[in-house]
Amino acid sequence: MQTKYWVVDNYEEKSKGYPQVKKAAAYLIDNEVVAFPTETVYGLGGNALSEEAALKIFQAKGRPADNPLIVHISSKEQVAEVAAEVPQAAKKLMDAFWPGPLTIIFTKQPNRLAEAVTAGLDTVAVRMPNHPVALALIEAAGLPIAAPSANRSGKPSPTAAKHVYDDLNGRIAGIVDGGETGVGVESTVVDCTGETPVILRPGGITKEDIEAVTGAAMLDVALQDHQARPKSPGMKYTHYAPDAPVYLLEGSPEWIQKQIDKMREQGKKVGLLTTEERLSRFEADVVLPCGQREDLSTVAHSLYEVLRSFNETDVDIIYSETFPSEGVGLAVMNRLEKAAGHRWLREKEDS
Ligand code: TXA
Ligand code: MG
Repeated sequence: MQTKYWVVDNYEEKSKGYPQVKKAAAYLIDNEVVAFPTETVYGLGGNALSEEAALKIFQAKGRPADNPLIVHISSKEQVAEVAAEVPQAAKKLMDAFWPGPLTIIFTKQPNRLAEAVTAGLDTVAVRMPNHPVALALIEAAGLPIAAPSANRSGKPSPTAAKHVYDDLNGRIAGIVDGGETGVGVESTVVDCTGETPVILRPGGITKEDIEAVTGAAMLDVALQDHQARPKSPGMKYTHYAPDAPVYLLEGSPEWIQKQIDKMREQGKKVGLLTTEERLSRFEADVVLPCGQREDLSTVAHSLYEVLRSFNETDVDIIYSETFPSEGVGLAVMNRLEKAAGHRWLREKEDS
């Protein structure tokens, strides 16, 4: 399949009435799948009402069929098209964070969405993205748009159109290139079908942000105990993994350098994910800075780009520094843990 590629500068596009976006929307209306930018990561969109379009999404990504998709909408009112009801807590969260990086789980409207989109569940995940190109595309299509992250299953989510191209060129109808994404990690997923909102996947909107609006919020048990079965089907898969194995290192910079040296003495090429503050402290085969430790949102922004960059090197092993699991740090550590398959090396356990 020949993949179309549209470069869209939002200001110019908007002033002309979104001509390129409308071309992409025509493919969505035809039940073809198209990648587009959001404020979190690139999504691979398809008509959420079409079984054919949903199956094309799963096929292009190589995604397991039991992992449901997020339905993207362009106005808060559109939620009524797909959700059976909007509980109080959900209403408050929508008002506070939509458009934005928050996905809300609702009881679904029966007989409306393609069965594959919700993977047979009686709930639906919905989000209104905060990106002008995404909103213009959904509006032009006039449809709820199912969209997982636009990566091949198992790869880090794409934060630039180039990542989508690398993973999916030839497998999808088109790519709308709207530049780099902002947040850098996927949206927070919160289940609002019960008494208290439950965070199933941490993201840019933090537990603290949600609590401030709803009074209370819980973390899904699987976020604290990785042996537990997650409520969000997608959270059970190893994700975000570069080709070389990743290890999470917790300890002083001196100890981290020692671990690197040990590996290199064994003839292994070592990559290190660190931060700008510490860049000059380490010596390894490849040292990549991932944002600034003093502002974890910058680490989130760069994380997937850095994980992908290691694939362009010949390192045998990737060591990563770790971060406090607070605020957006919770999302960063959740993704790093998955990239590492929960492999840790700790100074205090090292003797
Ligand atoms: O930021 C994002 O959310 C991006 C952009 C493109 O919007 N999308 C994204 O989609 O990350 P995806 O498919 O990669 O992740 C969706 C997550 C999965 O973990 C999936 O299992 C979960 O949401 N999910 C979807 N529907 C669900 C449901 N009804 N109940 C529980 N979890 C659900
Ligand atoms: Mg994904």
